[in-house]
Amino acid sequence: MPATIKFPQITPLFSALLCFRDHHHTPAHSFFLVIFQSPGYTGFYMRTYSTRSRRVSSTQIHRIKLGVCNCYLIKEKSAILVDAGPPKQEYKFIRKILSLGTEPEEVSLIVVTHGHIDHIGSLLGIKTVTGAEVLAHQREKDILEQAIWTLPGAVTPWGAFLLWLLKLAQKNIRFEPTPVDVEIMDSGFSLEGHGIKGRIVATPGHTKGSITLLLDSGEAFVGDLLMNGFPMRRGPGTPIFADDLKAVERSVQLLLEQGAKIFYPGHGEPFSAVFSQIE
Ligand SMILES: [Fe+2]
Repeated sequence: MPATIKFPQITPLFSALLCFRDHHHTPAHSFFLVIFQSPGYTGFYMRTYSTRSRRVSSTQIHRIKLGVCNCYLIKEKSAILVDAGPPKQEYKFIRKILSLGTEPEEVSLIVVTHGHIDHIGSLLGIKTVTGAEVLAHQREKDILEQAIWTLPGAVTPWGAFLLWLLKLAQKNIRFEPTPVDVEIMDSGFSLEGHGIKGRIVATPGHTKGSITLLLDSGEAFVGDLLMNGFPMRRGPGTPIFADDLKAVERSVQLLLEQGAKIFYPGHGEPFSAVFSQIE
């Protein structure tokens, strides 16, 4: 442990599904146990956290929901924002961070997990109001700087349906080009210079230039590498859209090997995962 990663949508033959409330914690704190069968694999365990804000030692983690996208404000010596939501969310962003006691200028860096419009639609406005630098993978740079609409491939029937809806909406939704200040490669990037104990890890799969912000304490802000909740999925697992699903699995494995304990997705509730394999 950890070993091979399997998800229900890949191996849908369940042998048991248990879902119950964990009454020893807060009412919003749910607990899931899922066991299913597939060759060489027998176990799958998860815990879902519904809390909006958490504190991990000296680090504060706040979820800022902008439209359909979960953005995250990570505060330690400075503040880093993960993702910037769909278009026209700038004022909501300002209201939210002020309500958290954070001035816009305190945000020094915006980490873009990938270049889909629901994660970068308000990037230029938020960059302008905060004065923060924008960090993205080199492979997403042109998408941000030239405001290119990109759509991933669907890997489930539900994903294909949502993609069809998205293509209908595509004509009427625009976003602004935004310069990338910090361009990273597959070797990753340390956040020490930004006062945060953590790093950026290249986690391709959902898109070729997808990245994850991984704190040293194990919190992984994964963008759409994993999803957990309506309208994307009913529970945690791999994305319903992906350029390369095998690469997604390799990236999740990499995060586990690097110490990821709780996944904070761009869609749905955060969750932790321990995977096991019994030969
Ligand atoms: Fe995405």
